[in-house]
Amino acid sequence: MKDKHLIELLEEMTLAEKVGQLVQLTPDFFAQGGEITGPMQQWQMSEAQSYQIGSILGTHTAEQVYTIQKQYLEKSRLKIPLVFMADVIHGYETIFPIPLAMAASFDEQLIEEAAKMAAKEAAEAGIHVTFSPMADYVKDARWGRVLESNGEDPTLSSVLTAAYVRGYQGATNNLNKDKKRIAACVKHFVGYGAAEGGRDYNTVDLSDLEIYQNYLPAFKAAIDAGAALVMTSFNTVRGIPATANQPLIQDVLRKKLGFEGLVISDWAAVAELIAHRVAADGEEAAKKAFHAGIEMDMMSDCYMNSLAQIITAAPELQQQLDQAVYHVLKLKDSLGLFEDPYRGLNEADLSVHLDADTRLSTRKAAEQTTVLLKNEGILPLEKNQKIALIGPKADSKDILGAWSWIGKQEDAVSLKEGLSEKHLDLSVLSYAEEEVLSDHYIEEACKLAEQSDVVLLAVGESSEESGEAASLTKLTLSRRQDVLVQAIAKHNPNVVLILFNGRPLVLSDIEESCKAILIGWFPGSEGGHALANLLTGTVEPQGRLPMSFPRSVGQLPLTYGQLSTGRPKTPDNQDQKYISRYMDEENDALYPFGFGLGYGSCEIEQTTITHISEEEGLYEVNARLINHTEKAHRTLLQLYSQDLVTEVARPIRELKQWRKVLVPAKSSIDITFNISETQFAYVHSDLLLKNDPGKIALYIGFDSKQADKIGEIAI
Ligand code: NOJ
Repeated sequence: MKDKHLIELLEEMTLAEKVGQLVQLTPDFFAQGGEITGPMQQWQMSEAQSYQIGSILGTHTAEQVYTIQKQYLEKSRLKIPLVFMADVIHGYETIFPIPLAMAASFDEQLIEEAAKMAAKEAAEAGIHVTFSPMADYVKDARWGRVLESNGEDPTLSSVLTAAYVRGYQGATNNLNKDKKRIAACVKHFVGYGAAEGGRDYNTVDLSDLEIYQNYLPAFKAAIDAGAALVMTSFNTVRGIPATANQPLIQDVLRKKLGFEGLVISDWAAVAELIAHRVAADGEEAAKKAFHAGIEMDMMSDCYMNSLAQIITAAPELQQQLDQAVYHVLKLKDSLGLFEDPYRGLNEADLSVHLDADTRLSTRKAAEQTTVLLKNEGILPLEKNQKIALIGPKADSKDILGAWSWIGKQEDAVSLKEGLSEKHLDLSVLSYAEEEVLSDHYIEEACKLAEQSDVVLLAVGESSEESGEAASLTKLTLSRRQDVLVQAIAKHNPNVVLILFNGRPLVLSDIEESCKAILIGWFPGSEGGHALANLLTGTVEPQGRLPMSFPRSVGQLPLTYGQLSTGRPKTPDNQDQKYISRYMDEENDALYPFGFGLGYGSCEIEQTTITHISEEEGLYEVNARLINHTEKAHRTLLQLYSQDLVTEVARPIRELKQWRKVLVPAKSSIDITFNISETQFAYVHSDLLLKNDPGKIALYIGFDSKQADKIGEIAI
């Protein structure tokens, strides 16, 4: 049912005004005072056109939003407010750990809460829509945008993607009432994570089965949670760029996934149909994108310059145009913009007021997302040790990550700053992070290492090295940081490697040189405090890898959930030639999906599977976790399955459920997973998701590799 007042508004609009609503530009098109500036001429945009556009993306301040909106409303005929969108990816000004790190929490509540806080800060700066969550399925760490993902498991990613949407929009999606929430735009539809060779913006060629099985579920979860917008991806799908792909948008997104909101292109993607060579010029690009179902054209002049002519020449498209404009108006209406175009802004005080609770939450999030990969009894640090803190990341504030464009590095807490509050015997030898390490620095660092009991070696990526347009063919430490690690290890065996990274890195050559490895990711505003708490044992590391760390780049793409092959490598055929293996490397990851250590330990001692309802196909899986030690321990219990015989090749193991557990010292805890047969449905060759009668093996453990078979069920 369409809203009458919006239909009436639509009827009042001229063709040019309708087209304008479908155009999104950056604030650069408006000077500080809200006047039109330079690029307009380059794009031959008239002043009238500029006061017809529908949306702005990427404003920096509340004042900017206020000024532009005010000017726009004064000058535009129909006074339809602009909708302001931005990339609020892991916080707005107060920065949370990067999404890949957040996924290491395996914790939907944590993510929902973080998204809620990010929404509040963004809403107060006048943002109405965030281009988040990114629901892209990923298994290739060469692609820098894995940083923005929830990792390599489609089930985990679906749960977390939906949590982002709930956090941004509120569980009831009542954006009209709740002005501290913003609308979510799930992206990039679809397949972007499969860019060939891990090279950003490159071709994608996936089977339908793979798209349906692994790439669509997180989008479905976001849409089911009420995501207001979907952004299409830059890549091709079955040879046609997603931006011009009618079957993809109409049949899959609209019909199959039931999406009823606004479809927006990615940045300049409509114009890029020309570079793809599927359109000869801007007019043809506009025609193809519009036919396909792109409603809002982000940062290209194709719709602005050509859509009116296209519609005039083909009046049968009028209805589709009205539908697209209706979706824009509906979004604005659902945000309450018609009654309050300055939604979220405090007109009397446009300055930013940051919330101490949000800041504290980023610290807690960083504590829960850091992953301890190795610890040969060296962590937590002990009192009275002489500690050296060495490396380019030792005192670096470049710890926010690639998508923290509003967050200020100077507000971030570096590792040195965090540790210096801990009253340790600490000597620091930092280094300019962007520079290649000099021989002199390495020598000085080795001297300091020799005089110390423990060396904290803080290394990793700069925020430029992961994220968008940050593809790599080498995943080892850059700028001679690997040389530093090996040199230090020769002078002091007690090396703790603290890694700041936006993607899985290849640690094969340096892991032996380290007694402990802590994956800090880009931990956000409070990173230094969080890491100091973890290193000193105030908090136990709880993060678990949401993406495998490969042994070598040559293994990529890599996932724990690879499909069964005809010639699998098994413990009994390791040396045979004609099996699916590398001659120079293991098949599996160095650190697998789901892996991570704490400072304590516990064991799984009793497991049972009970068929509790035949009619409803319900099972109960029980496991007892026993902590024999004197220390409480937090862990993540993981339930995996393998469907024994299937119609299409299926993953060797699939994560089904997980539970974060605190097992007190010297005690046990019983955990129950309730699982239904429907969770074993998979996409068949007819692309339908259905159950297949047969046996399913169940595994329980603490990571995807070390999970023990606990039995089979027959469904
Ligand atoms: C391009 C990126 O691919 C997309 O994720 C982002 O939201 C837009 N730029 C807008 O900044």
